[in-house]
Amino acid sequence: MIKKILVIHGPNLNLLGEREPGIYGSNGIDMLNKNIIERAKEQGLECEIFQSNHEGAIIDKLHAARQKFEGVIINAGAYTHYSYAIRDAISAIKIPCIEVHISNVFARDEFRKNSVIAPVCKGSISGFGFGSYYLAIMALSEM
Ligand code: DQA
Repeated sequence: MIKKILVIHGPNLNLLGEREPGIYGSNGIDMLNKNIIERAKEQGLECEIFQSNHEGAIIDKLHAARQKFEGVIINAGAYTHYSYAIRDAISAIKIPCIEVHISNVFARDEFRKNSVIAPVCKGSISGFGFGSYYLAIMALSEM
């Protein structure tokens, strides 16, 4: 049973609220994190949250997760579309991982339609604003 989960925010997500508010909304990462922790608690899940703009730091965190967590939610930001290294890390750790995106990546630029991490994730949730993370928490709690 899943009890402890890790949420990873990738590059540029620290600027939520300021960054392209027409696409990502006007609320910041602190509010998102507060809501994630509350939603996880409601589902009986303990949750740690990590943000980094660096590929290697995200990979190190994924590696460390295998001793500590039973589920991972990852918004890999633009790394989603080209980081084979993050894909390999997800694949290596064998912990169920859910890919999330705030925006609908299929309704935007061509390059965003491809996710190199999707095939090694349990599933993907895109386009529901911050709700994409809350839906991923629900999905993990059902596993
Ligand atoms: C994003 C979508 C990505 O294409 C983009 O590079 C991001 C954010 C999202 O949450 O909608 O940084 O992952």
